[in-house]
Amino acid sequence: MNAEALKAAPILVIGAGIMGAGIAQVAAQAGHRVRLYDAREGAAAQAKDKLAAIFEGLVGKGKLAADAAAATIGRIEPVASLDAAGDARLVVEAIVEDVEVKRALLKQLEAIVAPDCVLATNTSSISITLLANGLAQPGRLVGMHFFNPVPLMKLVEVVSGLHTESSVAAAIFALAATWGKVPVHARSTPGFIVNRIARPFYAEALALLQEQAVAPQVLDACLRAAGFRMGPCELMDLIGHDTNFAVTQSVYAANFFDKRYVPSLVQKELVDGGLLGRKSGRGFYRYPDGAPAPPPATHAAPAAPREVAVHGSGAIADALATAVAAVPALRSAPARVRDSGWTGLAIDGARLVLTDGRCAQELVAVLGTSDVAVFDRPLKMEPAGSALAYAVAEGASEAWRAQAPAWLAALGFAPQPIADTPGLVVARTVAMLINEAADAVQQGVCTTEGADAAMRLGVNYPAGPFEWLRDFGAGSVVTLLDALDAHYRGERYRASGWLRRPARRNA
Ligand code: NAI
Repeated sequence: MNAEALKAAPILVIGAGIMGAGIAQVAAQAGHRVRLYDAREGAAAQAKDKLAAIFEGLVGKGKLAADAAAATIGRIEPVASLDAAGDARLVVEAIVEDVEVKRALLKQLEAIVAPDCVLATNTSSISITLLANGLAQPGRLVGMHFFNPVPLMKLVEVVSGLHTESSVAAAIFALAATWGKVPVHARSTPGFIVNRIARPFYAEALALLQEQAVAPQVLDACLRAAGFRMGPCELMDLIGHDTNFAVTQSVYAANFFDKRYVPSLVQKELVDGGLLGRKSGRGFYRYPDGAPAPPPATHAAPAAPREVAVHGSGAIADALATAVAAVPALRSAPARVRDSGWTGLAIDGARLVLTDGRCAQELVAVLGTSDVAVFDRPLKMEPAGSALAYAVAEGASEAWRAQAPAWLAALGFAPQPIADTPGLVVARTVAMLINEAADAVQQGVCTTEGADAAMRLGVNYPAGPFEWLRDFGAGSVVTLLDALDAHYRGERYRASGWLRRPARRNA
């Protein structure tokens, strides 16, 4: 079994819906002869016509050569029967997401295809092991999980179940690469890689909304400032709350109701109310307007301090030192206290502290002052007006309540007040994404490189979880998760054993 052998024979794609049509397109563009079958009469021909119309438009705009477009379209043949699988070496199914329907189709196919034909499924949530069970040759079934829209999204998760032969997974991996995709091996576990590791991106936002810590537009602004293309609320509105909620529920149930993955009442309420997001005209936001900008805030320059010291070591402390040195209110160069239990600024008697998971209120006793504010983890230290969450301790003076955001603004951020919650917005979300990825690696679902590629390419994250981990440090991530765990109690914030290993903690 190798990619060359797969390439020589025709491919049968079953299901001419949004995914099947996309898979047929990329296979044909890569030079394959593709047969397209759909149980609904005429659906395969319609999909081909639709693609031809899109190509025609691209040719008209000069974005695609006419002969290339014609050749690709010419390679796609709508077929009316599964018998077209007889001389195929690869069948990719992209039919309805229903275990029994898929199992029936696979069994039917086994009676038609050649013994060395690979059966691939584009399922996004069904166990490959389960689908293979009962097949005469379960070793030839493999997950080939594309992302929507297939022609644009580079990632393909190549998913192996217990039965999947490694040569089959290897051949599909190599084939996907020849299609211009970036394949990543995954073990068949709930959510595979992307749909599993991404859960906290939504879940942490929903948890913060449930406790009314922050408004959706502020959450979105903070995560966008951290480099995500979309914030979690606008993204859930785009995906559709029904779809997003269904994935969360399926991952939760598939993990035997592990509280780590518990769905949110906030989202259930939206689904119950038919507020599904963009497609229904309203979700967190109303459409077509979408997210309003966070309330504008202007901050006076900070009052001239007697002394400022930069606490902590590492990239964020260094960047703070550089930024603070340029603040006009400063009378003298800031001192550095590298060997400190916290990172941030000591401004006379007040403390502006990078979140380590402890709330501002908790730090009051530790730091011996009630003038404490915590600020979120800046993932990029070129703030240039980017939103950054902060929270002020309950008993802080009125003066410090005004000064804390004034200092953050002077450092270049657009400070966003939120409730005094552990890990604020970005630090908490990113720590949980890292944690989920660490568990996935520990459980053999994927490699660290695979997880990074999958999250960058499957959901367009600005960096992979293990790239963030290099900056964050396993020790800091575990400290933050332990603080969340202590605050909320329960299963959700348990830190991965993979992160707790001494070698990683000390890294
Ligand atoms: P879709 O509803 O757009 O298309 C499914 C097509 O399969 C329909 O045209 C339907 O007529 C046909 N079909 C249903 N049962 C059939 C059968 N027994 N034999 C032949 N054709 C049959 O669905 P979509 O979105 O394309 O999803 C297809 C598969 O891809 C599902 O397994 C889904 O979980 C998976 N997937 C979907 C993604 C998405 O974003 N829509 C992303 C990744 C995977």
